[in-house]
Amino acid sequence: MLKYKSIKGTRDILPDESHRWQFVEQAIRSVMHVFNYREIRTPVFEETALFSRSIGESTDIVGKEMYTFTDRSGISLTLKPEMTAAVMRSYLQNNLGEQQPLVKVYYIAPMFRQERPQAGRLRQFHQFGAEAIGGQDAVVDAEIIALSAEIYRALQLKNFKVKINSVGCENCRPAYKDTLKNYLTGVFDKLSEESQHRFDQNPLRILDSKDDNDRLLTKDAPLMKDYLCKECESHFGELRAILTSIKIEYEIDGRIVRGLDYYTKTAYEIISKDLGSQDALVGGGRYDMLVKELGGKHTPSVGFAAGIERLLMAMEKQNLFTGENSRPAIFIAAADNAGKHWAIIQSMEFRRHGIPCEIDLLGRSLKSQMREADRQNAKFVLIVGETELQQKQVSMKNMKTGEQSNIMIKDLMDYFQHGGGKDETGKTG
Ligand code: HAM
Repeated sequence: MLKYKSIKGTRDILPDESHRWQFVEQAIRSVMHVFNYREIRTPVFEETALFSRSIGESTDIVGKEMYTFTDRSGISLTLKPEMTAAVMRSYLQNNLGEQQPLVKVYYIAPMFRQERPQAGRLRQFHQFGAEAIGGQDAVVDAEIIALSAEIYRALQLKNFKVKINSVGCENCRPAYKDTLKNYLTGVFDKLSEESQHRFDQNPLRILDSKDDNDRLLTKDAPLMKDYLCKECESHFGELRAILTSIKIEYEIDGRIVRGLDYYTKTAYEIISKDLGSQDALVGGGRYDMLVKELGGKHTPSVGFAAGIERLLMAMEKQNLFTGENSRPAIFIAAADNAGKHWAIIQSMEFRRHGIPCEIDLLGRSLKSQMREADRQNAKFVLIVGETELQQKQVSMKNMKTGEQSNIMIKDLMDYFQHGGGKDETGKTG
């Protein structure tokens, strides 16, 4: 019986899988780089009010999912359930907007939500995302959507769909909300308990209910996209035109409303067919009122966030990881004490030249060192003992071909620096 176990909904990323994370993170960073987004890192916890104010008191996240605790000085803190609020806090605190009119940042970080764990839904999960702060034109929305889609394209993911919608603004949404409520009043008694609960606070979310009966009941419900004011309508039209011109395929889905309150105009998701019920790879959109809400001046902004665990699940399903975990180029197997001594010194020499090298640290026999080299999938094994050292050479075994030859010690570094230890595939994923 284990004395300690990880907390429900959290998981370890073990050495055998971490290379996949590194591969994906590297791809994310390089696409962010070509789009000229720079990384921002913020603390893991913030004042609770920052999140409840930004995400919205009536949302599931604030209402029942936040990891909130009081620290020893009596302040209420929350482990970040998402990054947008934290990025806006940092933007304001550090006057980032004064240095440039449009601030483009990205992040890769752990998030925390106390949801019911299931495939693709964890309590500590990881997001990558980006925020473009200070631009009101639809071209910024298009860039954010394109940026997220390009990351999946760069990773060669298939079967994903970009779905866009407009959720209007403070001018057109209130009237639409009334229209929707009017419609829903007619079916109220038949709605699920959860949807009935949302009727007063957040009726739009009834539209993305997962309950089949709710879906049927709201089949002909009025949708925000058909009730937009002139400004929102033209913004949405422009976004669609730009997406088409830059060849980003999309669908319009009037039911995308998002689970966070700060959205205005554009709301979008990227969905994967390979994910089951938790099928959203990306959620994002425009949030023009948030910076002002947090005490800054009017700063129209747009961004997205995406779950890394879900991306990995989809990539695994599509067999996109063909590379291998890191492995030593060289394993030095020592036949005796003289060989062991040489191995210690020579391995440092290899490592200082950037060549991955392993030696036996457990005092094993030559035979079991050879077995260990094989287990670690080393590319070459150097076998060395007193006899070899007297002849100023070592025996070298190519583990792939099984070929064995002698190589002069003075030629070793040159051999491995010029091709001998290079990865045949060059892939790491
Ligand atoms: P969100 O839709 O709450 O949006 O989360 C974005 C993505 O994070 C989801 O589509 C999903 O892939 C992943 N995700 C969310 N919750 C979990 C979970 N419990 N387990 C695993 N993955 C999860 C936001 O967070 C907004 N801040 C997005 C944004 C940025 N909007 C504007 N800028």
